[in-house]
Amino acid sequence: MDRTLTLLGIESSCDDTAAAVVRLGKTGPEILASQVLSQTALHEAFGGVVPEIAARAHAERLDGVVEDALAAAGVSLDQIDGIAVTAGPGLIGGVLSGVMLARGLAAARGLPLVPVNHLAGHALTPRLTDGVEFPYLMLLVSGGHCQFLLVQGVDRFVRLGGTIDDAPGEAFDKTAKLLGLPQPGGPSVEAEAARGDAKRFTFPRPLMDREGCDMSFSGLKTALLRARDALVAEKGGITVQDRRDLCAGFQAAVADVLGMKTSRAIDMVGARPTALAVAGGVAANKAIRSVLETVSAKAGVPFLAPPLRLCTDNAAMIAWAGIERLRAGLSPTMDFVARPRWPLDDRSPALLGSGKKGAKA
Ligand code: KG4
Ligand code: ZN
Repeated sequence: MDRTLTLLGIESSCDDTAAAVVRLGKTGPEILASQVLSQTALHEAFGGVVPEIAARAHAERLDGVVEDALAAAGVSLDQIDGIAVTAGPGLIGGVLSGVMLARGLAAARGLPLVPVNHLAGHALTPRLTDGVEFPYLMLLVSGGHCQFLLVQGVDRFVRLGGTIDDAPGEAFDKTAKLLGLPQPGGPSVEAEAARGDAKRFTFPRPLMDREGCDMSFSGLKTALLRARDALVAEKGGITVQDRRDLCAGFQAAVADVLGMKTSRAIDMVGARPTALAVAGGVAANKAIRSVLETVSAKAGVPFLAPPLRLCTDNAAMIAWAGIERLRAGLSPTMDFVARPRWPLDDRSPALLGSGKKGAKA
């Protein structure tokens, strides 16, 4: 690398409108600014992300968020070397909002434009935060995604397995809803679980007897619903302690499944990966983190968890993926389409199902 590279990143594939400026200099990468404007409040009343509302909000807010990011970074468009934008997978209206803005800016300024796969953004984040070398194993666990990826290069990903139905974050959110806890469900279920007895209710650990590292979380939610209804039938309602115990049992089941399947994924890689890295909102869960840490320690693989603001949706990861692509000699282009579905690994079979936060890739 003989010169610094400063990219503007734009992300609008789900319910966060985000822009960031990332610079790669002689001493390594630096996030000059990363702005994320959440739409949670706009969708709250609907119990999930409404694609039309999301698309409109992105279209209305993107310019402002980009301006804020440039101002916070202290750079003007003249000092930007290129623009990276999420071109999929995600809610197509939102993706299009970002792509149109990026295309317009790039054309007007004569800047190179780099279309980025949102999942590649997540998957390359450990290189931005920790400079990890290829190949490493990535567990992406959020409200919309759940998959194991072997990251072999900037543009080389092997999908080892993933959920065949719900994503774990979705299961946490549904559990919270069933138990009358606030959204997002992950943090509220975790807080209840901390004071509960995980052994009182035993929930299923699906697909344990199936080879590989595919997972299923939809049955867990049904089991929880049955346990709750049984308590209601028995005593007319659930107590505070019942709720804590249900949360603890649920969380233990998710953590167990993720732990066991992570161990399988490490075995599937063959040669030892340089690290096990996590991304996605669910990676914030302390019980899950601790299980993953134990599993990687046992396998002798370093465990990496980027800071939460870079684990959840953001545009710094998109700018960084753009820098990685340019540095690897992959050409920027204006000639691409926005894609609702875009698997990182084209050889892996398409997954069924679509999470509350959009299409699963
Ligand atoms: O990555 P993210 O911010 O957005 C996408 O899904 O793309 O992840 C949000 C998900 C939500 O489903 C939320 O309930 C879950 O991550 N989550 C958690 C925790 N914090 C957030 N799940 C379990 N434990 C947590 N502490
Ligand atoms: Zn994401």
